[in-house]
Amino acid sequence: MTPSDVKATLSFSDGSPSMDLPIYKGTVGPDVIDIRKLYGQTGKFTYDPGFLSTASCNSTITYIDGDKGELLYRGYPIEQLAVHCDFLETCHLLLYGDLPDLAQKTDFTARVTNHTMVNEQMQFFLRGFRRDAHPMAVMTGLVGALSAFYHDSTDINNPQHREIAAIRLIAKMPTLVAMAYKYSAGQPYMYPKNKLSYAANFMHMMFATPCEDYVPNDVLVRALDRIFILHADHEQNASTSTVRLCGSSGTNPFAAIAAGVACLWGPAHGGANEACLNMLGDIQQIGGVEKIGEFIKQVKDKNSSVKLMGFGHRVYKNYDPRAKLMRETCHEVLGALGLENDPLFKLAMALEKIALEDEYFVARKLYPNVDFYSGIVQSALGIPVSLFTAIFALARTVGWIAQLNEMIGDPEYKIGRPRQLYVGAAPRQVKPIAER
Ligand code: SDX
Repeated sequence: MTPSDVKATLSFSDGSPSMDLPIYKGTVGPDVIDIRKLYGQTGKFTYDPGFLSTASCNSTITYIDGDKGELLYRGYPIEQLAVHCDFLETCHLLLYGDLPDLAQKTDFTARVTNHTMVNEQMQFFLRGFRRDAHPMAVMTGLVGALSAFYHDSTDINNPQHREIAAIRLIAKMPTLVAMAYKYSAGQPYMYPKNKLSYAANFMHMMFATPCEDYVPNDVLVRALDRIFILHADHEQNASTSTVRLCGSSGTNPFAAIAAGVACLWGPAHGGANEACLNMLGDIQQIGGVEKIGEFIKQVKDKNSSVKLMGFGHRVYKNYDPRAKLMRETCHEVLGALGLENDPLFKLAMALEKIALEDEYFVARKLYPNVDFYSGIVQSALGIPVSLFTAIFALARTVGWIAQLNEMIGDPEYKIGRPRQLYVGAAPRQVKPIAER
């Protein structure tokens, strides 16, 4: 971080002593005002529920420009990574700071591939769940349970432990997600096939059965690989902040990632792709494109809790660059499957057009986000709606780990412990029960 030659001066109208606050500049993006000494010097906290104006850390991993609709992983635009790289190259970039050369890619791929199986005991955790358990309930349990197996890689302060835990989590998430799916379908688990690529192996574990050969479709594999790339990291979003806060206590990486899985489940966050597809299904039910106006009216009605799922973003006040890429992938997948006239896709395109012209959404800078099209693509790939967020978690695991490792690797890091503005009861005395 580079100290700016400009300082912020905080002064008080009651004559309390003012104080100078240093300002730091990043490589790009907003400067930050360093308030670390504020409480010590003024006895006051800052107040920022939802952290709309708060930087929780400094990071070298991902940069988002919400106004321009830009997303960079380690400085590379997402549009270039999605076209020129695959997911494992992106994992290498996020974890180690640069794209791998051929030898590094071969080595990294081999390390991940050698950890795709999970301990055979893991299948007994699944038996405890109902077959219709939500996959994110299962994943929250399974990912946390990994910490029961890998005692040789749970010391978060040991760089070697962090490295092997990262490889294990990236390698095993597809296996666990596929197991959660097979369990819900009542089908046997399919072991990983290490001669397949990362995305092809996931499709194999999801859709193959012991009864017949299964050859993943290259177009669909590429589409899935791109979905993984687009969801891999996203700065200090709710689930990443959860992983950082959880990991700051020194807990093991598997437990910290399990906390991220739990947070991502929420419909305002990673659960939006499932909610978006359900929303499109609901509009379809009441009459499809002709009924979009009626639905939009509900969304605008402050008394209704109806939101346009897949629209809006805390940071993007422009089109989410991932949504643009996801829409392209949508076209490719539906074309490859002969589903160009897919009614849900046509409905989504009509809804997007109407919303982008409607003053309510324009005034609030509500644009499609990554979740708007990802559900349609995944649905076309044959992935059940309830599994969408588990796949988001699969892809985001590398980002969570990279962010966690960056925090733990920072000698300045401390356990995260925010304060509050207390507005509860003033101090009072307990009375004997007879007098209450
Ligand atoms: C992800 O943070 C990340 O980076 C997340 C993510 C990642 O990769 O990690 O990008 C992934 O979570 C994408 C977002 C997916 N969520 C959804 O699509 C759910 C629908 N979207 C909203 O719930 C909402 O837009 C949020 C939660 C995403 C952002 O909400 P904010 O920034 O807190 O904005 P807000 O709720 O204060 O909204 C501002 C106004 C409000 O209206 P007014 O009070 O000003 O009249 O916009 C309205 C909101 O009611 N609004 C919406 C809306 N989103 C905001 N109105 C209708 N439909 C919506 N989707």
